[in-house]
Amino acid sequence: MRPGPALEVDRLLDDPRTRIIVCCGSGGVGKTTTAAALGLRAAQRGRHVVVLTVDPARRLAQSMGLSSLDNTPRPVPGAGAEAAGGSLHAMMLDMKRTFDEIVAAHSDPDRAEQILANPFYQSLSSSFAGTQEYMAMEKLGQLRRADEWDLIVVDTPPSRSALDFLDAPQRLGRFLDGRLIRVLSAPTKAGGRAYLKFVTAGFTMVTGVITKIIGAQMLRDVQTFIAAFDTMFGGFRERAEDTYRLLQTPGTAFLVVATPEPDALREASYFVERLSEDRMPLAGLILNRVHRSPAARLSAARSLAAAEALLPAAGENSHPANGGGAAPADATKYPLAVAALRLHAERMQLIAAERRLAQRFSAAHPGVPVARVTAQPEDVHDLAALKVIGEALSHD
Ligand SMILES: Nc1ncnc2c1ncn2[C@@H]1O[C@H](COP(=O)(O)OP(=O)(O)OP(=O)(O)O)[C@@H](O)[C@H]1O
Ligand SMILES: [Mg+2]
Repeated sequence: MRPGPALEVDRLLDDPRTRIIVCCGSGGVGKTTTAAALGLRAAQRGRHVVVLTVDPARRLAQSMGLSSLDNTPRPVPGAGAEAAGGSLHAMMLDMKRTFDEIVAAHSDPDRAEQILANPFYQSLSSSFAGTQEYMAMEKLGQLRRADEWDLIVVDTPPSRSALDFLDAPQRLGRFLDGRLIRVLSAPTKAGGRAYLKFVTAGFTMVTGVITKIIGAQMLRDVQTFIAAFDTMFGGFRERAEDTYRLLQTPGTAFLVVATPEPDALREASYFVERLSEDRMPLAGLILNRVHRSPAARLSAARSLAAAEALLPAAGENSHPANGGGAAPADATKYPLAVAALRLHAERMQLIAAERRLAQRFSAAHPGVPVARVTAQPEDVHDLAALKVIGEALSHD
């Protein structure tokens, strides 16, 4: 029983109008895996693809030929795309390096050096919440402008909420020209007599308090950073806005990834609503790590009843320590069969719970197409496993 209309993955991948696919979702649901699997499948179907990954697991990165974080797309060895006339490149996002590259590209060498060496810049570029999301957007914009690929598949950073990817660039922008930063940067900006005029008692008090809290050196760092960075603010915002608009064009397809669990599906719901508010094109939901059973016709209830029937009747093989609860499997002549039946019952209950959750999502968002991917017995860390995921995505 399908939760919603089927998501036609191959049709999406084959359509030359699809230029960007963004895989979003909450933490750990399979965004990186899905992005890599879609990229591989699209390339094997003849498209020139680049996959932008964020923090891929080490073994997956290795199998995609990503041994170093050099922030440029590399061909994926053994992708097997040539036969179909396609190609596959992949890269890992290095957010610090992307930030540094922007600084270098938008300021003269002296100023760039001054910014790069600034401790405040260094901590902002590697740790500010949202920097990674902003840099993913920035890199996406760069790849699109380079126009070397006809499909860019974007993985999004690990964050609790899928919305962070859309919110973070604006948050970073707001932070960079927010009030606190203005107050802190005012002394160096104004300078000289204008500065003296500007310094009111209140203002001195504010910076005084801030200096106490964050330290004089830090304040100076922030001030020099802002002074040097000031000219670039406009550029940052403009590019973030450009990329935002790019995401709204019909060539973009958002795929929301979720596991069939309450938290992940709740996040997916928020995200779907937000995309429609922002008029961003949603292609569908990928329900990842769905459980299935090879013996789905044997219900949980019947399976438990069968296990029960294999157990000796009460008192027949007494286990005082058992306290009258379910008899342990070893109290029967068929311990393996009992264990297997109980395991099957548990799995059938899990499958039923997953199905209810998926149906609840689809009832709330009836128009959203869904593709399901079965939970694999092992982690997905090589091209062969990615291929299996790609097949599962398109043959649900
Ligand atoms: N269908 C699947 N079956 C089995 N394992 C899977 C499946 N999909 C993903 N995994 C595994 O689950 C783990 C998390 O997947 P992945 O790294 O793609 O998630 P993510 O959403 O990118 O996580 P993060 O939010 O941390 O970036 C990985 O070890 C991956 O191999
Ligand atoms: Mg990831």
